[in-house]
Amino acid sequence: MGMTESEKELLEKIEPEKIPDHVAIIMDGNGRWALERGLPRHEGHRQGVETVRATVRNSSELGIKILTLFAFSTENWKRPVREVNYLMSLPEKYFKTELPELMRNNVQVRLIGDRDKLPGKVQKAVKEGSEKTKNNSGMILNFALNYGSRAEIIMAVNRLIDQAGCGKISGNVNEKTFSKYLYTAELPDPDLLIRTSGEMRISNFLLWQLAYSELWFTDVYWPDFSKVHLLEAVYDYQARKRRFGKI
Ligand code: FPP
Repeated sequence: MGMTESEKELLEKIEPEKIPDHVAIIMDGNGRWALERGLPRHEGHRQGVETVRATVRNSSELGIKILTLFAFSTENWKRPVREVNYLMSLPEKYFKTELPELMRNNVQVRLIGDRDKLPGKVQKAVKEGSEKTKNNSGMILNFALNYGSRAEIIMAVNRLIDQAGCGKISGNVNEKTFSKYLYTAELPDPDLLIRTSGEMRISNFLLWQLAYSELWFTDVYWPDFSKVHLLEAVYDYQARKRRFGKI
Protein backbone atom coordinates (compact mmCIF):
# COMPACT_ATOMS: atom_id res chain seq x y z
CA MET A 1 0.00 0.00 0.00
CA GLY A 2 1.27 3.48 -0.84
CA MET A 3 2.08 6.02 1.80
CA THR A 4 -0.07 9.07 2.39
CA GLU A 5 1.49 12.54 2.32
CA SER A 6 1.19 12.93 6.08
CA GLU A 7 2.83 9.55 6.71
CA LYS A 8 5.69 10.54 4.41
CA GLU A 9 6.14 13.90 6.16
CA LEU A 10 6.20 12.29 9.60
CA LEU A 11 8.58 9.55 8.50
CA GLU A 12 10.99 12.18 7.21
CA LYS A 13 10.94 13.96 10.57
CA ILE A 14 11.32 10.83 12.71
CA GLU A 15 14.87 10.03 13.82
CA PRO A 16 15.50 6.32 13.15
CA GLU A 17 18.01 6.04 15.99
CA LYS A 18 15.49 7.31 18.53
CA ILE A 19 12.61 4.91 17.90
CA PRO A 20 11.17 3.84 21.28
CA ASP A 21 12.27 0.27 22.07
CA HIS A 22 9.10 -0.67 23.91
CA VAL A 23 5.65 0.70 23.07
CA ALA A 24 2.58 -0.27 25.11
CA ILE A 25 -0.96 0.44 23.92
CA ILE A 26 -4.32 0.61 25.68
CA MET A 27 -6.63 -0.12 22.75
CA ASP A 28 -9.80 1.70 23.79
CA GLY A 29 -12.98 2.87 22.09
CA ASN A 30 -14.10 -0.18 20.09
CA GLY A 31 -17.58 -0.07 21.62
CA ARG A 32 -18.09 3.63 20.95
CA TRP A 33 -16.76 3.29 17.41
CA ALA A 34 -19.45 0.68 16.73
CA LEU A 35 -22.28 2.50 18.51
CA GLU A 36 -21.58 5.71 16.56
CA ARG A 37 -22.14 3.68 13.39
CA GLY A 38 -25.29 2.01 14.68
CA LEU A 39 -23.46 -1.32 14.86
CA PRO A 40 -23.34 -3.85 17.70
CA ARG A 41 -20.32 -3.48 19.99
CA HIS A 42 -18.65 -6.65 18.74
CA GLU A 43 -18.29 -5.05 15.30
CA GLY A 44 -15.98 -2.56 17.00
CA HIS A 45 -13.87 -5.40 18.37
CA ARG A 46 -13.84 -7.06 14.95
CA GLN A 47 -12.50 -3.87 13.42
CA GLY A 48 -10.16 -3.55 16.40
CA VAL A 49 -8.48 -6.78 15.40
CA GLU A 50 -7.82 -5.30 11.94
CA THR A 51 -6.10 -2.40 13.68
CA VAL A 52 -4.06 -4.89 15.72
CA ARG A 53 -2.89 -6.56 12.48
CA ALA A 54 -1.88 -3.26 10.92
CA THR A 55 -0.26 -1.90 14.08
CA VAL A 56 1.85 -5.02 14.55
CA ARG A 57 3.06 -4.71 10.96
CA ASN A 58 3.69 -0.97 11.21
CA SER A 59 5.49 -1.23 14.55
CA SER A 60 7.77 -3.97 13.39
CA GLU A 61 8.52 -2.05 10.17
CA LEU A 62 9.37 1.04 12.17
CA GLY A 63 11.89 -0.86 14.28
CA ILE A 64 9.98 -0.98 17.55
CA LYS A 65 11.48 -3.90 19.49
CA ILE A 66 8.64 -4.69 21.88
CA LEU A 67 4.92 -4.00 21.41
CA THR A 68 2.62 -4.69 24.36
CA LEU A 69 -1.12 -4.62 23.67
CA PHE A 70 -3.81 -4.53 26.36
CA ALA A 71 -6.38 -6.90 24.85
CA PHE A 72 -8.40 -8.04 27.87
CA SER A 73 -8.25 -6.89 31.48
CA THR A 74 -9.09 -8.82 34.64
CA GLU A 75 -12.03 -6.39 34.93
CA ASN A 76 -13.39 -7.12 31.43
CA TRP A 77 -15.03 -10.34 32.71
CA LYS A 78 -17.74 -8.06 34.12
CA ARG A 79 -19.02 -7.30 30.59
CA PRO A 80 -22.10 -9.07 29.19
CA VAL A 81 -21.33 -12.73 28.60
CA ARG A 82 -21.89 -12.43 24.82
CA GLU A 83 -19.29 -9.71 24.54
CA VAL A 84 -16.82 -11.67 26.70
CA ASN A 85 -17.37 -14.73 24.50
CA TYR A 86 -16.79 -12.70 21.38
CA LEU A 87 -13.55 -11.24 22.78
CA MET A 88 -12.44 -14.74 23.77
CA SER A 89 -12.96 -15.96 20.20
CA LEU A 90 -10.48 -13.42 18.83
CA PRO A 91 -7.05 -14.84 19.72
CA GLU A 92 -7.82 -18.11 17.94
CA LYS A 93 -8.98 -16.29 14.79
CA TYR A 94 -6.09 -13.88 14.94
CA PHE A 95 -3.41 -16.56 15.08
CA LYS A 96 -5.12 -18.69 12.48
CA THR A 97 -4.94 -15.93 9.88
CA GLU A 98 -1.91 -14.03 11.11
CA LEU A 99 0.72 -16.64 11.95
CA PRO A 100 2.20 -16.76 8.42
CA GLU A 101 2.73 -13.00 8.44
CA LEU A 102 4.06 -13.03 12.01
CA MET A 103 6.58 -15.66 10.88
CA ARG A 104 7.48 -13.67 7.75
CA ASN A 105 8.04 -10.58 9.86
CA ASN A 106 10.07 -12.52 12.44
CA VAL A 107 7.70 -11.50 15.28
CA GLN A 108 7.83 -13.37 18.60
CA VAL A 109 4.50 -13.67 20.42
CA ARG A 110 4.19 -13.77 24.20
CA LEU A 111 1.35 -13.59 26.69
CA ILE A 112 1.26 -11.51 29.81
CA GLY A 113 -1.56 -12.07 32.28
CA ASP A 114 -3.18 -14.85 34.27
CA ARG A 115 -3.44 -17.54 31.61
CA ASP A 116 -4.92 -20.18 33.92
CA LYS A 117 -8.28 -18.44 34.05
CA LEU A 118 -8.59 -18.08 30.28
CA PRO A 119 -10.82 -20.52 28.37
CA GLY A 120 -8.96 -23.59 27.13
CA LYS A 121 -9.22 -22.60 23.48
CA VAL A 122 -7.62 -19.21 24.20
CA GLN A 123 -4.80 -20.83 26.18
CA LYS A 124 -4.27 -23.27 23.33
CA ALA A 125 -4.23 -20.56 20.65
CA VAL A 126 -1.79 -18.38 22.54
CA LYS A 127 0.40 -21.34 23.45
CA GLU A 128 0.59 -22.39 19.81
CA GLY A 129 1.23 -18.83 18.71
CA SER A 130 4.06 -18.39 21.18
CA GLU A 131 5.57 -21.81 20.57
CA LYS A 132 5.61 -21.43 16.80
CA THR A 133 7.20 -17.99 17.02
CA LYS A 134 9.52 -18.56 19.97
CA ASN A 135 12.70 -18.64 17.87
CA ASN A 136 11.84 -15.47 15.97
CA SER A 137 14.34 -12.74 16.73
CA GLY A 138 12.42 -9.66 15.59
CA MET A 139 9.80 -7.66 17.45
CA ILE A 140 8.35 -9.14 20.64
CA LEU A 141 4.56 -8.91 20.62
CA ASN A 142 3.13 -9.15 24.12
CA PHE A 143 -0.59 -9.75 24.35
CA ALA A 144 -1.96 -8.72 27.73
CA LEU A 145 -4.89 -11.10 28.22
CA ASN A 146 -6.67 -11.43 31.55
CA TYR A 147 -4.08 -8.94 32.71
CA GLY A 148 -4.37 -6.68 35.76
CA SER A 149 -1.39 -4.86 37.13
CA ARG A 150 -2.26 -5.03 40.82
CA ALA A 151 -2.92 -8.76 40.51
CA GLU A 152 0.47 -9.07 38.77
CA ILE A 153 2.23 -7.24 41.61
CA ILE A 154 0.50 -9.40 44.23
CA MET A 155 1.45 -12.53 42.27
CA ALA A 156 5.06 -11.37 42.28
CA VAL A 157 4.96 -10.73 46.05
CA ASN A 158 3.52 -14.18 46.70
CA ARG A 159 6.11 -15.86 44.52
CA LEU A 160 8.81 -13.99 46.43
CA ILE A 161 7.32 -15.12 49.74
CA ASP A 162 7.31 -18.73 48.50
CA GLN A 163 10.91 -18.49 47.36
CA ALA A 164 11.99 -16.93 50.65
CA GLY A 165 10.05 -19.62 52.54
CA CYS A 166 12.02 -22.40 50.88
CA GLY A 167 15.29 -20.53 51.22
CA LYS A 168 15.79 -19.81 47.52
CA ILE A 169 16.20 -16.09 48.17
CA SER A 170 17.40 -14.32 51.27
CA GLY A 171 17.90 -10.77 52.47
CA ASN A 172 16.17 -7.75 51.01
CA VAL A 173 14.55 -7.59 47.61
CA ASN A 174 15.54 -4.73 45.32
CA GLU A 175 13.70 -3.24 42.31
CA LYS A 176 15.67 -5.27 39.81
CA THR A 177 14.93 -8.56 41.57
CA PHE A 178 11.30 -7.65 42.07
CA SER A 179 10.75 -6.84 38.41
CA LYS A 180 11.96 -10.34 37.48
CA TYR A 181 8.90 -11.78 39.19
CA LEU A 182 6.49 -9.80 37.01
CA TYR A 183 5.03 -11.11 33.74
CA THR A 184 7.36 -8.72 31.93
CA ALA A 185 10.46 -10.26 33.54
CA GLU A 186 13.65 -9.46 31.62
CA LEU A 187 11.90 -6.97 29.32
CA PRO A 188 12.77 -3.28 29.52
CA ASP A 189 9.98 -0.97 30.71
CA PRO A 190 7.82 0.72 28.05
CA ASP A 191 9.29 3.96 26.71
CA LEU A 192 5.94 5.08 25.38
CA LEU A 193 2.35 4.36 26.38
CA ILE A 194 -0.41 5.10 23.88
CA ARG A 195 -4.08 5.20 24.84
CA THR A 196 -6.81 5.77 22.29
CA SER A 197 -10.38 7.12 22.59
CA GLY A 198 -9.73 10.21 24.68
CA GLU A 199 -9.66 8.52 28.08
CA MET A 200 -6.72 9.61 30.22
CA ARG A 201 -6.28 6.76 32.63
CA ILE A 202 -3.85 3.90 33.16
CA SER A 203 -6.65 1.47 34.08
CA ASN A 204 -4.53 -1.01 36.04
CA PHE A 205 -2.10 -1.53 33.13
CA LEU A 206 1.64 -2.03 33.84
CA LEU A 207 1.60 0.16 36.97
CA TRP A 208 5.14 -0.79 37.97
CA GLN A 209 6.56 -0.79 34.45
CA LEU A 210 5.13 2.60 33.38
CA ALA A 211 6.92 4.51 36.18
CA TYR A 212 8.98 6.59 33.72
CA SER A 213 7.16 6.04 30.43
CA GLU A 214 6.07 8.90 28.21
CA LEU A 215 2.28 8.98 27.89
CA TRP A 216 0.52 9.81 24.63
CA PHE A 217 -3.23 10.13 24.27
CA THR A 218 -5.44 10.53 21.22
CA ASP A 219 -9.18 11.02 20.79
CA VAL A 220 -9.18 8.53 17.90
CA TYR A 221 -11.03 5.29 18.65
CA TRP A 222 -8.92 2.14 18.38
CA PRO A 223 -10.59 0.88 15.15
CA ASP A 224 -9.57 4.17 13.49
CA PHE A 225 -6.00 4.17 14.82
CA SER A 226 -3.73 3.98 11.80
CA LYS A 227 -0.12 4.29 10.75
CA VAL A 228 -0.25 8.07 10.78
CA HIS A 229 -1.27 8.05 14.46
CA LEU A 230 1.51 5.65 15.39
CA LEU A 231 3.98 7.90 13.57
CA GLU A 232 2.58 10.98 15.33
CA ALA A 233 2.99 9.28 18.70
CA VAL A 234 6.59 8.33 17.92
CA TYR A 235 7.35 11.80 16.58
CA ASP A 236 5.94 13.46 19.71
CA TYR A 237 7.84 10.98 21.86
CA GLN A 238 11.09 12.01 20.20
CA ALA A 239 10.51 15.62 21.19
CA ARG A 240 10.05 14.75 24.86
CA LYS A 241 12.89 15.31 27.32
CA ARG A 242 13.16 12.17 29.42
CA ARG A 243 14.90 13.02 32.65
CA PHE A 244 14.14 10.02 34.87
CA GLY A 245 14.08 12.34 37.91
CA LYS A 246 17.35 14.03 37.02
CA ILE A 247 17.65 17.63 35.78
C1 FPP B 1 -11.67 -1.45 24.59
O1 FPP B 1 -12.75 -0.92 23.90
C2 FPP B 1 -11.25 -2.67 23.97
C3 FPP B 1 -11.32 -3.91 24.53
C4 FPP B 1 -11.83 -4.17 25.88
C5 FPP B 1 -10.88 -5.07 23.76
C6 FPP B 1 -9.67 -4.84 22.96
C7 FPP B 1 -9.43 -5.96 22.07
C8 FPP B 1 -9.08 -5.85 20.79
C9 FPP B 1 -8.84 -4.59 20.11
C10 FPP B 1 -8.84 -7.08 19.99
C11 FPP B 1 -7.75 -7.89 20.56
C12 FPP B 1 -7.17 -8.72 19.55
C13 FPP B 1 -6.62 -9.92 19.75
C14 FPP B 1 -6.01 -10.58 18.61
C15 FPP B 1 -6.62 -10.61 21.06
P1 FPP B 1 -14.13 -0.80 24.65
O2 FPP B 1 -14.95 -1.98 24.31
O3 FPP B 1 -13.88 -0.59 26.10
O4 FPP B 1 -14.70 0.49 23.99
P2 FPP B 1 -15.66 1.55 24.68
O5 FPP B 1 -14.87 2.18 25.79
O6 FPP B 1 -15.94 2.50 23.57
O7 FPP B 1 -16.87 0.81 25.15
